[in-house]
Amino acid sequence: MAAAIVVLGLVALVGPPAALGLDNGLVRTPPMGWLAWERFRCNTDCKNDPENCISERLFRTMADLVVSEGYSAVGYEYINVDDCWLDKERGANGQLQPDYSRFPNGMRALSDYVHRLGLKFGIYEDYGNYTCAGYPGILGSLELDAQTFASWNVDYVKLDGCYSHPKDMDRGYPEFGYFLNKTGRQMVYSCSWPVYQIYAGIAPNFSSIIEHCNLWRNFDDIQDSWASVESVIDYYGDNQDAIIPNAGPGHWNDPDMLIIGNFGLSYEQSKTQMAIWAIIAAPLLMSVDLRTIRPEFKAILQNKGVIAVDQDPLGIQGRRIYKKSGIEIWSRPITPLQQNYFSYAVAFLNRRTDGTPSDVAVTLQELGLAYPGGYAVEDLFEEVSYGVLSPETKIKVKVNPSGVVILRANIHLPRFQSQNQKTVYDPYQHVFRTTARPNF
Ligand code: GLA
Repeated sequence: MAAAIVVLGLVALVGPPAALGLDNGLVRTPPMGWLAWERFRCNTDCKNDPENCISERLFRTMADLVVSEGYSAVGYEYINVDDCWLDKERGANGQLQPDYSRFPNGMRALSDYVHRLGLKFGIYEDYGNYTCAGYPGILGSLELDAQTFASWNVDYVKLDGCYSHPKDMDRGYPEFGYFLNKTGRQMVYSCSWPVYQIYAGIAPNFSSIIEHCNLWRNFDDIQDSWASVESVIDYYGDNQDAIIPNAGPGHWNDPDMLIIGNFGLSYEQSKTQMAIWAIIAAPLLMSVDLRTIRPEFKAILQNKGVIAVDQDPLGIQGRRIYKKSGIEIWSRPITPLQQNYFSYAVAFLNRRTDGTPSDVAVTLQELGLAYPGGYAVEDLFEEVSYGVLSPETKIKVKVNPSGVVILRANIHLPRFQSQNQKTVYDPYQHVFRTTARPNF
């Protein structure tokens, strides 16, 4: 305790220490929720388009639907405001303020509304002079803005990086994280720090990013098209050796929003986005009009088996293990564990356009699934179970063009062992530990 007081004392003199991590204990599995940007953008025209403009009304409506349409029951919990909520000017006291013509009751009232529904409230700002859409940024007011967010009971802050110097971010993002922490309110901290640095040709300092941010963007903004989703998938596959080690409980790579249910993706492509996002342990932030989404897309977003892969407690990000002639195989180690073996989620992706499903045949062993006791295998979208298969078994899947088949292969636990032993995996040491449970 004394040490903590000394550290805080120093902080007051010299500013936030670079080594003070966020360590807020939040998002031990990737965050799930709804985020306005991809679908609703910067529509501020509430006069002519009251139902779709960025406004209190839109967020209340979406929050209502997240609960009433069953999204919260499967794990979606954050209702996140993005750009264009602000007034163009700060208030008289220098505080950030919403555009009151669109948020007439203010942000605290909206946050309270979201909380009353049992959900959590997220907000957007920018570490620069302006947000990307030209509203006031936090530069020069970091501590005040962190306090303002805390006073509104914000649970999640996305901090963008327009109108700032990427070089300054190595100091600026940790500094704002420090002020968030200092408020005493736990807020998820979503950073755009690495993506702006990568664009500027600066190699991001990921050990610092991991320490200070709960999630971060590495790559382009997602758009409403299959080409955009493919470009994200390729980025995550092509750069996986550098990216994967950065992910883990409490700190995640963010490939950007789910665009399922909008205009640009077919049914097959929507399943592909959901499956690959789950394999790469992505935050699941839907950006879709929940008033008009068709049932088949809603079912994809609410697929409990795929969500369970995304939310696997080990928090190990999966990887592309095969890519040839338009066929890709992606795999992610998941629970349950036994001895030195993981269970796996495996996604077969068909990037071909030759109009007919492609067959992929492979043994479990070839996929790296070598546990001698076998695996209980199920197809997560078809909800078909294949029973317990040995590592030598050849499985054959039919994958539709731009579609996916995602399997879950659970280690088959012999009954007596599963009761008496527990295997845990230490992601930092990369080791398994099997413990004998006391046998009462
Ligand atoms: C950037 C971000 C997007 C969105 C917009 C808002 O482009 O990457 O996710 O927040 O700004 O202007």
